[in-house]
Amino acid sequence: MPATVIVGAQWGDEGKGKIVDLLAQHSDLVCRYNGGPNAGHTIVVKGETYKLKHIPSGILRGKVCVIGAGCVVDAQVMIEELDDLETRGVSTGLVRLSGNAHLVMPWHLAIDRGSERRLGKLKIGTTRRGIGPTYADKAYRLGIRVQDLLDPKILRQKIEVALAEKNVWLERVYGAEPIQLGGLVERYEGYAERLRPLIADTSLLIDRALREGQRVIFDGAHGTLLDLDHGTYPFVTSSPTVAGGAAVGTGIGPTRIDSVIGVAKAYVTRVGEGPFPTEIEGANHDRLQELGGEFGTVTGRQRRCGWLDLVALRYAVRLNGITSLALTKLDVLSAFADLPVCVRYLLPNGAETADFPAHQSDFHHCRPVYETLPGWQEPLDGIESIRGLPDDARRYVEFVERELEVEVSLIGTGADRQRVLSPRGLETVAS
Ligand code: GDP
Ligand code: IMO
Ligand code: MG
Repeated sequence: MPATVIVGAQWGDEGKGKIVDLLAQHSDLVCRYNGGPNAGHTIVVKGETYKLKHIPSGILRGKVCVIGAGCVVDAQVMIEELDDLETRGVSTGLVRLSGNAHLVMPWHLAIDRGSERRLGKLKIGTTRRGIGPTYADKAYRLGIRVQDLLDPKILRQKIEVALAEKNVWLERVYGAEPIQLGGLVERYEGYAERLRPLIADTSLLIDRALREGQRVIFDGAHGTLLDLDHGTYPFVTSSPTVAGGAAVGTGIGPTRIDSVIGVAKAYVTRVGEGPFPTEIEGANHDRLQELGGEFGTVTGRQRRCGWLDLVALRYAVRLNGITSLALTKLDVLSAFADLPVCVRYLLPNGAETADFPAHQSDFHHCRPVYETLPGWQEPLDGIESIRGLPDDARRYVEFVERELEVEVSLIGTGADRQRVLSPRGLETVAS
């Protein structure tokens, strides 16, 4: 059973990069299916930190790394990322880029900034990387795709058509400077030269790999609650983040996917605006933020921190068809004597629910109902197996398993790639 999706089960930054890197050891292909440079995936190898934006988290293991049609690519950022990896001695020769992926263009960055400014207090708190406007133009059929880079005539024509419309928006709606055509086409022709050898029919590539029985990992960006259809709209990103998006975003059929590993922190974080029922107030918030190093990988913004929310996580299990969970950053909770875990929401009408509310107002105004578990208050450094965990840490994990009726197959005990426990052995996790 060689095809596994790794999906963020909360609001992003769950530690997907580390888990994908870990499981990539026993895989042949690692394929990103959504998002763009709004993602920031951290992998720590013997104290050295790699932060990936576009490139799938299998790159450090020397695997074929596919960027699928469902992704959006900022050519300049991607080239910088490739160059940076090469400079650090990581080969990028096996990166393959779908010709159907869309390009984040300079006007998308300007519109993202202008739109957030215009929304003022109602802003989404985007990463300002042009993601929403790029996906909007894709749906509007005004987008520029990676394969357009291959033909200078098509490229020029598409840039001219898009720019004529976008400059009206920039000037009249956002009061921003128009973008000059001069030099732009030439700049993108330069990017085309660099990216040309990477462009491939990635759907076919993955299909062949699966037919040959190779092991494929689908590397999801962001998190379930940021999904465009099922997340906390409008405080979401603009792509399908859920596991089903892996089929759409890489061009394989949904029947090819065998298992789905949800990645969740042992608590919750969120960057940007939007409702967050278990958000902590006061000293414990700052302590958790500091101990967890909860500052954004892409923008450096502070991540808002909260206690583990099993109502939201149960929703993620449902939406993704999660077959097992990776529970990361358990070590960060070592500092706390009491660990509240949200088991239900109290709705404005006085009813309690264990299921995620379908109506936005219920979610915005719900209050968390906690069960408080005892903390273990000892570091998890040096623990090599699940049996070595303090009893209360093991009980915390078992509580999650029982409440969600899903196995926890991986437990994160530190940032380094080695710092993970796998109760039933790593090789069997992605199968
Ligand atoms: P991603 O976007 O899901 O890949 O996650 P990020 O890389 O944005 O954020 C996760 C952060 O937690 C990174 O700084 C990781 O190095 C770190 N991390 C991952 N797993 C663990 C863990 O088990 N314990 C600790 N302490 N840190 C972790
Ligand atoms: P990874 O892959 C955390 C959030 C932004 C903002 C909202 C919309 O590292 O887990 P966008 O720029 O996508 O239009 O912003 O989504 N967001 C993320 N938060 N981790 C991410 O990615 C995110 N990608 C987008 O903070 O609230
Ligand atoms: Mg991240």
